[in-house]
Amino acid sequence: MKRRVGVLISGRGSNMAALLYAARAPNYPADIVLAVCNQPHAPGIALAAEAGVAVTVIDHRRFGKDRAAHEAAIDAALREARVEIVCLAGYMRLLTPFLVTAWRGHMLNIHPSLLPAFPGLHTHARALAAGVKLHGCTVHLVTDTVDEGPILAQAAVPVLPGDTEASLAARVLMQEHRLFPAALAAFAAGRPGAAASADAALANPLPIAAAVE
Ligand code: GRF
Repeated sequence: MKRRVGVLISGRGSNMAALLYAARAPNYPADIVLAVCNQPHAPGIALAAEAGVAVTVIDHRRFGKDRAAHEAAIDAALREARVEIVCLAGYMRLLTPFLVTAWRGHMLNIHPSLLPAFPGLHTHARALAAGVKLHGCTVHLVTDTVDEGPILAQAAVPVLPGDTEASLAARVLMQEHRLFPAALAAFAAGRPGAAASADAALANPLPIAAAVE
């Protein structure tokens, strides 16, 4: 039985697209049944619509400062679509305890760094400034603290001489697009983290290291 997945986005939606593409495989253990976006002009809305996925735009501006009411509307949309697992794929709003509690243990996030290094924004610039030799991305369960929570899967990307923020971001994004579908597949199949490292390592054209749990 495929698990029903809702994806929350705010912008470009390339990670959502990677999930949608992966979920086309007949044996993929999850169906992307709904995309929710808080930005009415996000490019990701068209991507989801083209893929035939229901998209609900819930503009946070409509709710003023009432973050809980905005999240209640998101939660209602997810419940109405009978979503079982939520994937945050570039959802750029801080969550309140309401949504975190409502979906605890059922909400995954992708973050563009090897957590616990570089939580928050501008991860690629910070990785370059710190001089790390390995950077990457992480899929983790969402808990009360931003970019924390049990790590399900990670893919490491070497920082190369001459890398810029853009070149590093592009290389990490390639890995995000492999890692998130693999991590979701393992999670949906009841084996959190099990398949993700193998998938990312085998599929990777660069000499990356990948680690799970
Ligand atoms: C990705 O880098 C993701 O890791 C971060 O936000 C970005 C979203 O990109 N959370 P996209 O909208 O999936 O293309």
